[in-house]
Amino acid sequence: MKVTVVGAGGNVGSTVSMAVAQRDFAKEVVMVDIVQEKNGNKIYPSKGRALDQWESSPIHKFDTKLTGSVDYEDTAGSDVCVITAGVPRRPGMSRDDLLETNANIVQSVTEQLIEHSPDTILIIVSNPLDVMAQVAYETSGLDSSRVMGMAGILDTARYRSFLAEELDVSPKDIQALLLGGHGDTMVPLPRFTTIAGMPVTQFIDDEKLEEIVERTKGGGGELVNLMGTSAWYAPGAAAAQMVEAIMLDQNRIFPCAAYLNGEYGHEDLFLGVPVKLGEGGIKQIIEVDLIAEEQDLMDTSADHVHSVLAEFRELMDK
Ligand code: APR
Repeated sequence: MKVTVVGAGGNVGSTVSMAVAQRDFAKEVVMVDIVQEKNGNKIYPSKGRALDQWESSPIHKFDTKLTGSVDYEDTAGSDVCVITAGVPRRPGMSRDDLLETNANIVQSVTEQLIEHSPDTILIIVSNPLDVMAQVAYETSGLDSSRVMGMAGILDTARYRSFLAEELDVSPKDIQALLLGGHGDTMVPLPRFTTIAGMPVTQFIDDEKLEEIVERTKGGGGELVNLMGTSAWYAPGAAAAQMVEAIMLDQNRIFPCAAYLNGEYGHEDLFLGVPVKLGEGGIKQIIEVDLIAEEQDLMDTSADHVHSVLAEFRELMDK
């Protein structure tokens, strides 16, 4: 029960680590980052954040040992590795603008993780998400069931939280499904949104629902504009939920970025789809019957991911 988080000296990585520790199912979380420099001094953010979080263990009451490191040897034998390493968005940037920088980082991080944990399961959080998952998949040589991207849980959480606020009901009672890439072309599906099992359309008019769908699509950007950098609390919580589902073999059904091999009419790319998560990673990709309009949105989303992937391949050729 060993988890590694790379990029853990940063916002998302340290939040994933803390959320995993607070759930108290893992023996150990190894928090990896690079050595950084501040005011001419070397600093070790992953070691600092790990120590700070470990010091909260008596208060939060968890046993999971958090250790900071800059050395991949400490990650050996990890069951699950979460990659959040990379640069975040700044105002005015799209996730795709991070492509070149983050592809190089994700590639090198994946190589080093696999060297020490050849059978691990990889959860990618770095953006542009769907393409970074593909980079990790191709670099790692792992089976596609063992590589996935975290996006759908976050995007549905945003959607559900907005709906809860609008309808004045508990977010716990809102269930939703969202497909497609992690970007403006994501596909929230009102047809599969329920409030305690009842169709959402009984609670809200079409216009308001459409507004919430649009806000969800731009949910990441809304936070970048407010904070000057991208979000971490909800992304961190979402990744921790995936780690838990895998390590406790929960068979949870979540929307995740998974490698498609013909499902939903697409192949050789990662795209958000409902999957069953448990021991070994993705046990099943669930294919929902989509109506034509939903399939069109899914195809547009896939086209977009393909175009960013093509850009990545061009960069690699250079
Ligand atoms: N190896 C390990 N860690 C690295 C590397 C590397 N090669 N390159 C960068 N990092 C680390 C940075 O040192 C930093 O601590 O990744 C961390 C990123 O943290 P933040 O800058 O706080 O960014 P964060 O908000 O956590 O976002 C990270 O997740 O949600 C996505 O779009 C977001 O791609 C971004 C990623």
